[in-house]
Amino acid sequence: MKCRKCGGTAVINMRQHKLALCADDYLAWLPEQVQRFIEKYEMFTRDDRVLVAVSGGKDSLGLWDILHRLGYQADGLYIGLGIDGGFGYSDQSRELSERFANEHGLKLHVVEVEQTYGATIPELAVISNRGHGKPCSVCGLNKRYIMNRVAHDGGYTVLATGHNLDDEAAVLMQNTLNWAGGYLVRQAPVLPASRPGLARKVKPLCRIYEREMAAYTITRGIEYIYDECPHAVGSTTLYNKELLNQLEEKRPGAKLQFYLSFLQAKEAGLFSAKASEPDLHACDRCGQPTTAPGECSFCRLWDKVRGVKNLPDRVPASLVAPALSA
Ligand code: AMP
Ligand code: FES
Ligand code: ZN
Repeated sequence: MKCRKCGGTAVINMRQHKLALCADDYLAWLPEQVQRFIEKYEMFTRDDRVLVAVSGGKDSLGLWDILHRLGYQADGLYIGLGIDGGFGYSDQSRELSERFANEHGLKLHVVEVEQTYGATIPELAVISNRGHGKPCSVCGLNKRYIMNRVAHDGGYTVLATGHNLDDEAAVLMQNTLNWAGGYLVRQAPVLPASRPGLARKVKPLCRIYEREMAAYTITRGIEYIYDECPHAVGSTTLYNKELLNQLEEKRPGAKLQFYLSFLQAKEAGLFSAKASEPDLHACDRCGQPTTAPGECSFCRLWDKVRGVKNLPDRVPASLVAPALSA
């Protein structure tokens, strides 16, 4: 297979774009695509201070690399979840994230959930009795909360995650199967900061295939954690991804079309904006915006844990180290 740009040996063939590229041309092409989508969806500009949530995986490290190469001001945030899975999943993820930051001279904030709040995510799942023995739901709640807090405390104007097309299409499929109107209205490349205290959230890789991100990070020589979170095994998301891959196999581009037609349908008014603006107010305890009356679900969760574990009452004034927040 030959590179369409230079005739050299192709390292990737993207049937969905009818495009094969060599290593050099691919490493130039992908960031150009990302730049196009950042502009198209008006995600952020070079004046913004971007906080990239990095998990140590290919998507988020690849995203950080791309934003850095494109000349954006992007710092990283790694959240230590305390997940072991028999191979030190969280420790390895942290190490790879730190290595990438050091090698590129980039700033990485690290928040260890256990050190900051007093329990690991798996422990939290058991104590809170949420999520039917799976930590994923408390994990998601904690990640969303901490990302938002660090963005706010550190004065970042946008929060970027590494969600790729496969992630977005799998979630879209689930939300469609459930006709989950509220989620469908809010699933978008950009979630504006609808009120003070809520960070603007963007997904610059939402149109990039997972396979394209893997090829990018490998070709760039970025070391990332290959393993999925051990708790993701058997999840609906992974199952949906498999189904979508079968579809894609028969019809290259099907995944992208599914997602893009959804965005277009929404643009054309398929969903009313009615469900999109939940009533938010400040949490009585930590001040972050919440839909729950009184305390937010993060604070209620940790109240319960403090009771069970007899932990001191801690509400960190800021999740960003003072020396770093200037
Ligand atoms: P996931 O929900 O694991 O598919 O991850 C989706 C996105 O969330 C990743 O691309 C990252 O941007 C972010 N993310 C996931 N885990 C972490 C973590 N431990 N620390 C910081 N960001 C994370
Ligand atoms: Fe959160 Fe797996 S449970 S990453
Ligand atoms: Zn709260």
